[in-house]
Amino acid sequence: MCTVTCLASINIAVIKYWGKRDEVLILPVNDSISATLDTDHLHAKTTVMTSSTFKEDRIWLNGKEEDIKNPRLQNCLTQIRKRARNSNQWKVHICSENNFPTAAGLASSAAGYACLVVALAKLYQIEDDITSLARSGSGSACRSVMGGFVKWCMGSESNGADSIAKQIVPASHWPEMRILILVVNDTKKKISSSIGMKRTIETSDLMQHRIKHVLPNRVKIIEQAIIEKDFKTFAEHTIKDSNQMHAVCLDAYPPVIYMNDVSHTIINFVHAYNEAVNEVKVAYTFDAGPNATLYLLEENVPEFVGVLDHFFPPGINLEQYRKGLTFKEVINSQEL
Ligand code: ADP
Ligand code: DP6
Ligand code: CO
Repeated sequence: MCTVTCLASINIAVIKYWGKRDEVLILPVNDSISATLDTDHLHAKTTVMTSSTFKEDRIWLNGKEEDIKNPRLQNCLTQIRKRARNSNQWKVHICSENNFPTAAGLASSAAGYACLVVALAKLYQIEDDITSLARSGSGSACRSVMGGFVKWCMGSESNGADSIAKQIVPASHWPEMRILILVVNDTKKKISSSIGMKRTIETSDLMQHRIKHVLPNRVKIIEQAIIEKDFKTFAEHTIKDSNQMHAVCLDAYPPVIYMNDVSHTIINFVHAYNEAVNEVKVAYTFDAGPNATLYLLEENVPEFVGVLDHFFPPGINLEQYRKGLTFKEVINSQEL
């Protein structure tokens, strides 16, 4: 028997991946940029085992057996076996746990598939780029294979060969950066990211404007802001990109709605705070769910959290994962 266990963290996009040009290969319509969190916090932990006694491939997620025939999973397994550098033909058993809510808009698919692919790549001794393997499980997963700020380049080849993720800077480049996640609702979302983005690309007119006229420039600006550690520019474009993603969702037909009243209250709160301090100190971003992720610098955490606690006392359906959510020391998909 051969066993590998790995950890991989979630990543939170500041330029959102929203829309595919190829549903099967998972090729996006735009470049996206995110930061990967430290594995001390929200992560997936996956163990993969092979044995001559296993009769079939099987997977357990959070203690419950799932259907191994899931096409995304099958895609990953087939591609990984094709690229295997050893002759291991045994069936594989996969056991994965997330230490945070699954399918609630907190990027579980990113941590989950990154972790699965990193573990299987070790098992099958694959050494070249594995971000494209993670991408075939869930698009956002390709960015969780690395730490720091990461860019997923959409690529132009029809087979997806150049649709891979690359690190822009390691976490040590901007060690003051902090992430605060405000969990508004941790139940499973009603519209998965895949379905939400498919409906958006098929029905939203605004989406074409976003892809053609907004993103190419925004990607360049935010990448430069990260390199120059220009928080104001970084924050403004992060906020605008989140709002634009949710605007194109609302422009879909029927509309795709992920944020709720509490999410909107958080948005107003962050803008009111930034105005009160006369500086852009906090940026918010929302994935496909009502939960807020805030980007801010370490020096501003105590004051902001104090004000936040005053207006959102703990326990009112707003749980905060705030225990030093730093990505200062990103340990990337580390083997245990
Ligand atoms: P999220 O916002 O949490 O990423 P998605 O709708 O994008 O939600 O994806 C959720 C799906 O990702 C789950 O239903 C499951 O199929 C897959 N997933 C989540 N965590 C893992 C994991 N640890 N291992 C394998 N697959 C996972
Ligand atoms: C809003 O990667 O979950 O989090 O590729 O269909 O699995 P699939 O979608 P997924 O979508 C993530 C959407 C997002 C934005 C982002 O992470 O860039
Ligand atoms: Co996801």
